[in-house]
Amino acid sequence: MTLMDGKNFFLKNLENTYNNKEIIYYYKLILSEVFKRNELQLALDPKSSLKNSEFTFLKQAVKNLLAQKPIQFIIGKAFFRSLTLYVNENVLIPRPETEELVDWVIEDFRDIQLKKNIIDIGTGSGCIAISLAKELKRNIVYALDNDDAILELAKRNAKKNNVEVNFFKKDINFLNSLNLKIDIIVSNPPYVLKKEKKNMKLNVLKHEPNEAIFVDDEDPLKFYRLILDYAKLNLEKSGLIYFEINPLLIKDLRILISAYNFKIKQRIDIFGKVRMLRLQKTL
Ligand SMILES: C[S@@+](CC[C@H](N)C(=O)[O-])C[C@H]1O[C@@H](n2cnc3c(N)ncnc32)[C@H](O)[C@@H]1O
Repeated sequence: MTLMDGKNFFLKNLENTYNNKEIIYYYKLILSEVFKRNELQLALDPKSSLKNSEFTFLKQAVKNLLAQKPIQFIIGKAFFRSLTLYVNENVLIPRPETEELVDWVIEDFRDIQLKKNIIDIGTGSGCIAISLAKELKRNIVYALDNDDAILELAKRNAKKNNVEVNFFKKDINFLNSLNLKIDIIVSNPPYVLKKEKKNMKLNVLKHEPNEAIFVDDEDPLKFYRLILDYAKLNLEKSGLIYFEINPLLIKDLRILISAYNFKIKQRIDIFGKVRMLRLQKTL
């Protein structure tokens, strides 16, 4: 079996489920990220052989792709800004919209010399916290989630990317007991309504963690409210909150936020949806 045979095997078995471009992209990702083959090898030396163990991996990958498992979980990695992060089914696969949220924070603080305390609430893979620790070097970065296995993975990711992040376990429902004075809060909390499930892709619904994605339709702003309550007491004067949000909830969110003392700015994402808010404390 050669690299080219492997590619043909992939194409033949996946052609009814994915388009050719996707299949070749997935195959190349497996070659480079799992088999550690130079991606160019496929073009320059397509007859170079595949080991038995590699073919076994490919067969399993086909099975998983047919079952709609995301390629990131198959290779165990995802890419976020300049980072490569380990991912598994305990965490949300970092999204491009979240890269834009991080861009916003970095744009605002890149040239600021003061040392700031930053917290990422609901850290998952650690993508936000690790990016901020890497690109805003003078600051102290904290990050929380409510699950040991998630925090374990986020810590591995910080180590892999050579940054220091202070991860700790905390449930957002009990944020009011956290006495940590903070200058910048960043959060991409669960925000998808259960009633949106019917429009979502199977790969997300079947394989990504529900707790990371969904909120109760009856109280969809719960996490934002809890974070705002925390900010009321613990965010420093003129401190900032950067939220990723559900575009469907923007009106209600604005009403919720108007009960607190914040100046609001909103931004749209690459898909043209209102996806980010920046709140500046005014009192
Ligand atoms: C939408 S995901 C965001 C993950 C990551 N920050 C990102 O942007 O890819 C929301 C995160 O909040 C965490 N989470 C959900 N409920 C929580 C709770 N009650 N307390 C703490 N974290 C919670 C989930 O485990 C998940 O990692």
